[in-house]
Amino acid sequence: MTDGRRILNEEFERAAEGFARRTEGRFDQMGVPLFSRVAPNETVLEVGAGAGTFLSLFEGSAARLIGVDLTEAMLEQARARHPSQKLVVADGFKLPFRSRSIDLVTSAQALHHVFKPVPFVSEMRRVCAQGGRVLIVDQLAPESYEQIAFMNELETLRDPSHAASRPPSAFRSIVMAAGLEVIDEKIFEDRSRFSRWMWPGEFPEERIERVRDFVARFGPETGMGFEPDGDDWTFTRRRIMLLARRPA
Ligand SMILES: C[S@@+](CC[C@H](N)C(=O)[O-])C[C@H]1O[C@@H](n2cnc3c(N)ncnc32)[C@H](O)[C@@H]1O
Repeated sequence: MTDGRRILNEEFERAAEGFARRTEGRFDQMGVPLFSRVAPNETVLEVGAGAGTFLSLFEGSAARLIGVDLTEAMLEQARARHPSQKLVVADGFKLPFRSRSIDLVTSAQALHHVFKPVPFVSEMRRVCAQGGRVLIVDQLAPESYEQIAFMNELETLRDPSHAASRPPSAFRSIVMAAGLEVIDEKIFEDRSRFSRWMWPGEFPEERIERVRDFVARFGPETGMGFEPDGDDWTFTRRRIMLLARRPA
């Protein structure tokens, strides 16, 4: 097992339950099923499905929901919360599915844990059916290189399995380099609270302190719009939702 894989497994095994509780409902306002053009007879796959929260958005809109993830403890959370999902431990770089077999291949909030995003998205394209779609949702970095560097330092301090937050332009390039054609895109922005983003149910106290210290010193450099609010901060979280298809 590589170091990166071990860190990812350790982090999500430790944090599975706290993560599942914190992130419940976080995609509810994004209009995901409509944006994905999902049809009732379709199969939806999510790569990096975690606790199944994103995949559950398709319950009632698709015929079959399949989630894969590298971390068994995350899938245990998904099994307990979403019994209709079929969940398999597997690596997104080597999906256990036939080529061109899945109508809608999705991945939410997993790409920022991936250092080599083009092979990852290429594998999503491989299993995507003729006429099918690939849907990617992930957090965004600003376009400024300096701010990206500070943001990624902060994110890695918070979660050592973080690989890279990327700007919108990088997502478009990754999808194109993976042999796909962007057909739609939306960007979302909302204000979050530091104390919720790093709550003690999910993170060790000493790590929370280290991240608080980083925000106090370098928060303005991250481009995340940190603003003090008593002994807490608020900040802006931006996400991209990008829909693509195989070129004809
Ligand atoms: C931040 S969580 C997101 C979970 C879920 N998609 C959501 O949005 O709530 C990232 C998940 O991606 C998984 N993951 C990261 N790299 C992966 C890979 N190469 N293959 C499969 N799963 C992966 C992690 O184990 C973790 O459960």
